[in-house]
Amino acid sequence: MKKLTITRPDDWHLHVRTGAILKTVMPHTARRFARAIIMPNLKPPVTTVVQALAYREEILQAVPADLDFTPLMTLYLTGATTADEIRKAAECEHVQAFKLYPAGATTHSDAGISDIKAAYPLLEAMEKHDVPLLIHGEVTDEACDIFDRERVFVDTALADIVKNFPELRVVVEHVTTTEAVQFVQSTGARIGATITPQHLMFNRNALLAGGIRPHHYCLPIIKREHHRQALVAAATSGNPKFFLGTDSAPHLTSLKEAACGCAGCYSAHAALELYAEVFEWADALDKLEGFASFHGADFYHLPRNSGTIILEKTTWKVPAAYGDDSVSITPLKADEELTWQIAQ
Ligand code: NCD
Ligand code: ZN
Repeated sequence: MKKLTITRPDDWHLHVRTGAILKTVMPHTARRFARAIIMPNLKPPVTTVVQALAYREEILQAVPADLDFTPLMTLYLTGATTADEIRKAAECEHVQAFKLYPAGATTHSDAGISDIKAAYPLLEAMEKHDVPLLIHGEVTDEACDIFDRERVFVDTALADIVKNFPELRVVVEHVTTTEAVQFVQSTGARIGATITPQHLMFNRNALLAGGIRPHHYCLPIIKREHHRQALVAAATSGNPKFFLGTDSAPHLTSLKEAACGCAGCYSAHAALELYAEVFEWADALDKLEGFASFHGADFYHLPRNSGTIILEKTTWKVPAAYGDDSVSITPLKADEELTWQIAQ
């Protein structure tokens, strides 16, 4: 049997929610990843160090006792964030970064930033304290076509941020377009990007051709095939600016299979296996370890993990749903076969 042993990976972009959903999803991530950057878009959002530490405790309670997992917390940047909170975040070992959501861009983003330029004094404080800024890179202009929102953000907002704050570390989260990839490639080492499994695997036909597929709906929306190919090329290139971030975003099946279904793909149940499949298609399995286990840790100035994880080439079928009667979450590739499996 074909086997692949790599250093334990980390997930640099993850949503785990709270309560019953958290309990359902946490074992999936903790079985695969040593650490994960936890997104702060709860309702209400996690905006202070005190809130992040309480959320961290709740997450740790949901990790199975036999698994060793470290949540890396982030704070939600709002118009009310203070320079003092940024200093506190910089001083707290459990908090790694701030997340910038343009207001209205995605799930639970209404508390986000409506005028990025007005938030520049906060970015200046992050730069001063060397706290990375994680960006959901889409404009929210309703007149802008949803497939163009990332490209326009890169031109109108991101380029300016990067130019104005020459020392600020920035992660362009879940890049989905050729333009975002090229932007990241053209900047210095302090600008990185995460890439999700769904954007590497699917183009927009997977969302709309042959029927509407709510479980492939996430933001930024999946794009045309040439964008997908650019993402695969970036992820498998060995360039340390690109690293693994699933954006696994669990929602109840009933809220996705609806007249107005919410955005987010659930991928934590098979995250590493999905990436392995993509890297194998690209004949680049030798590049998986850098992407999954080294580049993100180096970017965040954290030590690389010491343990290993083994992937085996064994076909298995993804369940139709995870959870129980009260919490049902439909995973990516539900009821379909995957070719890589985590060794027991
Ligand atoms: C995320 C969620 O559900 O929290 N949804 C998504 O489509 N990716 C929010 C986000 O990261 O944009
Ligand atoms: Zn996300």
